[in-house]
Amino acid sequence: MAVSNQLTRVIRVSFGIVLTVALFSLLSAIFLSSRSEDILAADDDLGRADRSAPGASGISLPVREAMAAAGSRFVKSWCVRRTARQEEVEQVIQNMETQERSRVFEKIFREDYWGGGESRSGPGSRKDYTANVRKLLALAIKTYGVKELLDSPCGDVNWQTLTEGFNATTYTGFDIVPDMIRKNEATFQGWPNMKFARVDFTNTPIDETVRPDLIICRDAIQHNALKDGLRGLANLESTGAKYILTNWHSPPRPNKDIKFGDFYLIDVFTRPFNFSKPEMFISEGVNGHNSEGKFAGLWKLPALLKGDGRPFRIPESLVLKARQHVVTSAELEAELIRLQRPGGLQA
Ligand SMILES: *[C@@H]1O[C@H](CO)[C@@H](O)[C@H](O)[C@H]1NC(C)=O
Ligand SMILES: *[C@@H]1O[C@H](CO)[C@@H](O)[C@H](O)[C@H]1NC(C)=O
Repeated sequence: MAVSNQLTRVIRVSFGIVLTVALFSLLSAIFLSSRSEDILAADDDLGRADRSAPGASGISLPVREAMAAAGSRFVKSWCVRRTARQEEVEQVIQNMETQERSRVFEKIFREDYWGGGESRSGPGSRKDYTANVRKLLALAIKTYGVKELLDSPCGDVNWQTLTEGFNATTYTGFDIVPDMIRKNEATFQGWPNMKFARVDFTNTPIDETVRPDLIICRDAIQHNALKDGLRGLANLESTGAKYILTNWHSPPRPNKDIKFGDFYLIDVFTRPFNFSKPEMFISEGVNGHNSEGKFAGLWKLPALLKGDGRPFRIPESLVLKARQHVVTSAELEAELIRLQRPGGLQA
């Protein structure tokens, strides 16, 4: 990952140079073909005027060369070097942040801090707890013909492989804890469709070879400071994925800014996330028991900042349905219309 990130950066910087030089050449060409008074003034500015040997555009070749050289010196010394320096510092900050987060989560996993027992990723990753989430994921895979999954963060991948249709997809799991990645690589060695990488998705640009159709980002944002959650979601969206599966808590409460590793009851529909409405959703929890009022939803991307910022209130009839079944946006629409009809509320 580190090597390919490096490579991506080199490619980006090179592309930047090529683009800037091309732009400069174009501007020079336009400039050089303009009126000769302007050109002579530019010659004076450069202090390299040689008016004795005008070229085709009315300006001498040495002057043009000097201009081009000055141009690329300018490009190199100002634009490119500044960007590279910033990139360098950004990389150092990014590593510091990741180290800090990693220590928090290594401890959580090592000590089974969330008391998941069966799963170090917490009770929310137990097989029985995730039955409904798997229904939602399976329906999304089938409905949208999903071929490639990105699971970020993936934790110990306790439930994902039990999803119907999973083996027909390719799966990439990101996690911040290096030991978790090593453990997953060992556990899923015989699975040709699965790969893992240590990535802190809240601050690390995602490798361009990872091109998911659907992203799973479950029980994750609510363990981060609001700005890091926002950055993480925007980063995941930047992969060009078409869908995201994430979760929220209902009834809505204001989102709380916390320290990394803590937890708040997240409402993705209100500030600062302002998600659009989901395509499908289901209640989480075991056998209809869902004390935290947690729901898993499936959104078309981009979803972040695409909603009106108002809480999403699910009609009670659909809350009941969602305990066992996936509710689609079409069903939601129909129910909202039904409830608006006279006597609808009693129906
Ligand atoms: C999926 O593939 C793995 C690894 O090849 C295999 O162990 C597992 O049984 C498969 N699952 C299903 C449902 O076919
Ligand atoms: C989210 O929605 C609210 C309410 O409409 C709005 O005030 C706010 O500016 C929006 N954006 C963010 C980033 O909170």
